[in-house]
Amino acid sequence: MTFRREETVWIPESDLEGMSVDTLAVRAGQMRTGELEHSDPIYPTSSFVYGSAAQAAARFGGDEPGNIYSRFTNPTVQSFERRMAAMEGGERAVATASGMAAILSTCMALLKSGDHVVCSRGVFGTTNVLFQKYLAKFGVETSFVSLTDDEGWRSAVGENTRMLFIETPSNPLCEVADIRALADLAHSHEALLVVDNCFCTPVLQRPLEHGADVVIHSATKYLDGQGRCVGGVVVGPEKLMEEVYGFLRSAGPTLSPFNAWVFHKGLETLPIRMRAHCENALELAQWLQQQPEVETVFYAGLPEHPQHELAKHQQSGFGGVLSFRVEGGREEAWSFIDATRMVSITANLGDVKTTITHPATTTHGRLSPEDKSAAGITENLIRISVGVEAVEDLKTDLARGFQALQNQ
Ligand SMILES: Cc1ncc(COP(=O)(O)O)c(C=O)c1O
Repeated sequence: MTFRREETVWIPESDLEGMSVDTLAVRAGQMRTGELEHSDPIYPTSSFVYGSAAQAAARFGGDEPGNIYSRFTNPTVQSFERRMAAMEGGERAVATASGMAAILSTCMALLKSGDHVVCSRGVFGTTNVLFQKYLAKFGVETSFVSLTDDEGWRSAVGENTRMLFIETPSNPLCEVADIRALADLAHSHEALLVVDNCFCTPVLQRPLEHGADVVIHSATKYLDGQGRCVGGVVVGPEKLMEEVYGFLRSAGPTLSPFNAWVFHKGLETLPIRMRAHCENALELAQWLQQQPEVETVFYAGLPEHPQHELAKHQQSGFGGVLSFRVEGGREEAWSFIDATRMVSITANLGDVKTTITHPATTTHGRLSPEDKSAAGITENLIRISVGVEAVEDLKTDLARGFQALQNQ
């Protein structure tokens, strides 16, 4: 560690080589100014000044490294990017204004008109809308395939397929895709495999290690963990990330320094939070299975989950999101949700506070009835993003929902 200096420096990352993701979450991407602060500095500035007109010209011309304008680079945003790149095991990360901006920027940078995408059917509802409604307008066609339908993936890939896009585990049904198999399929067609790693975070799964080309996050979820800010990040090899950065610099969906700082600090507790989320979710899933009003529980940590073995091999934990179907339809699902008193009725996930959602009328509400049915988003499905409260208290609160169903 360096003391007694005047300049701002990045703490050398070579010192962290080979260290675990738990350590990288706390130590990677750290900068320290001449004030020698222990917590990370924040740079809420839109532009940066130069010592002379010649220096300004050198910066703009790319002859001298350094900051110019926060739509291009900002030190706080870079701290978050460096930490994320280290944790995901990627060469470079590019932070974005939201998770959707991360997906959009990746597609705008890496696809062109005439290209074809194969996307898993169970992706976050807005991702589906982005592909079907907006990217289609610019000549990028998307086919949707069930995440776990191996033959479906093989037959959907064509000559002009340039990207396979998946979320694993999926939202809200917790299906798990074989990342290595899909990466091999993508590469045999000169396509990229892009993985939305929002549910697992790099603490539980590092898709690049399994052959994926690009990893995407909604930082709004677990990376923050306390429901404070909206943001996103894309991680991958330098060559691809330079393209994504170029799009961001021109189009502008960049992350604000304040939000970057919140995420950067949020990452420090991510490993211990993820362990607590996983522990609570597994216990709750087992408890839900025992309730007579529950038809099915979807959680990859349960041995009867169809991809339980794959999840065990590919992930180091099963995550904090589960879903279940109650007997009945929308009325029963809504009365269950309305009877709870502590858990929060909100569409966000990945928060330390447990949240409860009715996907068919919220997160996936914009899907057509056919798409909903194909994705398994039934009216009696409830999603829980399990927080870190005492699990016995969560059971007490959810038991209010079951009581309401019994009273009907
Ligand atoms: C899996 C997944 N990916 C992407 C997004 C989009 O992220 P954001 O809301 O930060 O734009 C979400 C949001 O809920 C999500 O759940």
